[in-house]
Amino acid sequence: MGGVDLEDHKNKRELFGIIGHPVKYSLSPAMHNAAFKALGINAEYKLMDISPDDPEELANFCYETDLNHIGGFSVTMPYKNQIMEYCDHYDPLAKMVSSVNTVNVEDSQLIGYNTDAMGAAAALQEKTEIKDKKVLLLGAGGAAKAIAYALREFNAEVFIYNRTLEKAEALAEELKLETIDLDAIGGADFDIIVNATSVGMKPNIEETILRSEQIPQHAVVMDIITSPLKTQLLKEAEEAGAEIVTGERMLLHQAAGQFEIWFKQDAPIQVMEGALYAELEKRVD
Ligand code: ATR
Repeated sequence: MGGVDLEDHKNKRELFGIIGHPVKYSLSPAMHNAAFKALGINAEYKLMDISPDDPEELANFCYETDLNHIGGFSVTMPYKNQIMEYCDHYDPLAKMVSSVNTVNVEDSQLIGYNTDAMGAAAALQEKTEIKDKKVLLLGAGGAAKAIAYALREFNAEVFIYNRTLEKAEALAEELKLETIDLDAIGGADFDIIVNATSVGMKPNIEETILRSEQIPQHAVVMDIITSPLKTQLLKEAEEAGAEIVTGERMLLHQAAGQFEIWFKQDAPIQVMEGALYAELEKRVD
């Protein structure tokens, strides 16, 4: 099979993994393999790079999950939407946000889920309540849509800012939210600010949509970017005296959600958290 190295699982261990391209920097194997080890689950979680250059590679991977003893898999860029074509079913949240980041293989069927939305909410909830809060969401892509949906579920008052206004308006219309102009943000006194754009991601680490003057001191500011963890936006937030939530918190909670879907039991979140930070320590930022 194409570029996916699945090895021969002679002892019939169940195989899990992450499909996407590129996946070599993924932090998911560290978290999931630590969870398997801690709970004595006979499974392994691997990187499964699927090249976007070969349209058949994704299809073949999906058709051969049973053959390869695959119990489930994570999905990352660029396949979160495309994978839906191969899912036999998906849960209503995944359908609503048109994005699947988790697939469970059940009776030879692929069932798609989205744990990004609730992962983002759980990461925020470590620092603040979401209910009735005034939230600024930066971005209107796939990640922003999942987060907007979760925030709305918690009854937050959500305003969307996006570089391309039409996309912000389309998302706001679909989810019955508001849009806001960049120059109105500073005076709007937001409680929570979430960056769901790629602005500030390596190598453009000096970029930020907002400066400290636009961030209220009482705000909680979260960035979903994990490379670097402390983005320029979060530096600006700290300068404003605001609290910050770095991207690995969402990563941890979405991974815990995946574990719960695959194994129908609570995730050993502290074990996963330890493995995540141990892995991050190894990487020079
Ligand atoms: P994802 O699925 O990860 O959300 P996406 O759908 O490509 O990815 O969305 C990327 C988001 O980052 C969009 O909101 C995009 O804004 P546009 O809709 O205007 O393209 C935003 N984004 C990316 N680069 C940006 C930049 N340099 N400045 C402002 N916004 C940017």
